[in-house]
Amino acid sequence: MARILITSALPYINGIKHLGNLVGSQLPSDAYARYMRQRGHEVLLICATDEHGTPAELAAAKAGKPVAEFCADMWQVQKDIADGFRLSFDHFGRSSSERNHRLTQHFAERLAGAGLIDEVHEKQVFSHTDGRFLPDRYIEGTCPNCGYDKARGDQCENCTKQLDPTDLIEPRSAISGSTDLEVRETKHLYIRQSAMRQHLDEWIDKQSDWPILTTSIAKKWLHDGDGLQDRSITRDLDWGIAVKKGDKDWPGMDGKVFYVWFDAPIEYIAATAEWADANDLDEAAWHRWWRTDEGADDVRYVQFMAKDNIPFHTLSFPATLMGSGEPWKMVNYIKGFNWLLYEGGKFSTSQGRGVFMNEALEILPSDYWRWWLLSNAPESSDADFTWENFQGGVNKDLADVLGNFVSRVTKFCRSKFGETVPEGGQYGEAEAALTAEIQTRLIAYEKAMEDIEIRKATAELRAIWVAGNEYLQHAEPWAKFKTDPDAAASVIRMALNLIRLYAVISRPFIPDASDQMLAAINLSGTESWPDSVKAALTALPAGHAFTTPDVLFAKIADEAREELEARFAGS
Ligand code: MF3
Ligand code: ZN
Repeated sequence: MARILITSALPYINGIKHLGNLVGSQLPSDAYARYMRQRGHEVLLICATDEHGTPAELAAAKAGKPVAEFCADMWQVQKDIADGFRLSFDHFGRSSSERNHRLTQHFAERLAGAGLIDEVHEKQVFSHTDGRFLPDRYIEGTCPNCGYDKARGDQCENCTKQLDPTDLIEPRSAISGSTDLEVRETKHLYIRQSAMRQHLDEWIDKQSDWPILTTSIAKKWLHDGDGLQDRSITRDLDWGIAVKKGDKDWPGMDGKVFYVWFDAPIEYIAATAEWADANDLDEAAWHRWWRTDEGADDVRYVQFMAKDNIPFHTLSFPATLMGSGEPWKMVNYIKGFNWLLYEGGKFSTSQGRGVFMNEALEILPSDYWRWWLLSNAPESSDADFTWENFQGGVNKDLADVLGNFVSRVTKFCRSKFGETVPEGGQYGEAEAALTAEIQTRLIAYEKAMEDIEIRKATAELRAIWVAGNEYLQHAEPWAKFKTDPDAAASVIRMALNLIRLYAVISRPFIPDASDQMLAAINLSGTESWPDSVKAALTALPAGHAFTTPDVLFAKIADEAREELEARFAGS
């Protein structure tokens, strides 16, 4: 038995996430965690909301709420949706937690102590009316390039030109609209990533099993251009973690907070501490996952994220951990994802284009989405969500193959033998061949899960479902029943056992259907992974009672699909 720590990139608090966000980290992390738990490993799956930064402040202002209240409300919304998708987080924390405040300030103190923090004087826009320094995107004005009058201090969204606030014509505060602005000198903290470049480089070179997507992005940031830049880790915002050295004030840093990307990954650790707190466990309980001097050396730590997050997880966060000089657990494997497109284009939150997590659950139960998204996960390249693909995947894999198998077998059995497993005769060659094929495929499926090759895993699982269907097709129990009821009975006994096997091995992907299948065959709670297919296919003895389940998966009709296409086309 191994210990596996799994984290999913933390979703921003500022809105409900779309299906692309879901399949880019949370959903695959859940499937992997579920699989590893079923195999008997000790798993800790951690996620949290990423609550700081300008987008959170802006979204709160838009919602007309104080930012703390907005974040508390949105955390609950995201938590409920995560539950709706059956994401089996051991803890879903908040980066604004007390634990994260303390840990983030602790790391800053350690880094400063190690000489890895520079205090840099900079010029920045101060608003007299608002009584504060304004971050770049809080300054609006006319774009010098295209004349757009709502350009932001960091970028013009009309012509996409990158800007400095001082480039803007007639700049004003985005908070108050005031033009009473002044450029003033202020101080910010920079983490000296450049000083850690060699360390990071060597550490990355040791990760021989990392996917190419991960290493190539990390190496590019290390070696391209001027190499790894020192980065500012403080901001002039109200909402965030106050810049302190441990619990001591940091001279000259009053009113400033840490940059959201500094504190967010630290929340992986803090959320694990929150998990211990929530379960009345002591410090040692979370230290054994995170402190290599307290047992975390034995932990395999796997992170899931979309590819734009990779630099922060291969460089910035490791720099924080290494720079602290303390024995923190470093990640063992980073699984990055490409993009999910929506009907060939981008999902767009601002234009309401694409399907958002709350909407998805209003349309169909979570298993439908889980299956399609995971079996089409954007692993080696981008993937495209289209309603047509979705309809095809659901109707074929879930309704025609798996759902139909379960319903045919149970209904036929009920009508001919009653709702108990029939006895029948010995298994023959067809059963031996089927068992052998499933065994081979199961090994391939397991290997794919070990390697976190999600699409490959789903393809093997699908093939195992198909094998059962083909077996039934050839064995023809409905025809055999007329001439040789005993032979028909043994086919049905085999098929009912297949339902049990399917329930167990499909569980990482479609946990609700797995529950339904296990309940139908009266074996709820028996989900541990099979050692051998042959043994697993004798789990249901003759005489074992079952109940014929409702339809597992309904098909999506063409009219319904067309309606959905139109509804989500965006404005
Ligand atoms: N909120 C970020 C995003 O959605 C991810 C943060 S991951 C963590 O892109 F490292 F900060 F935890
Ligand atoms: Zn412009």
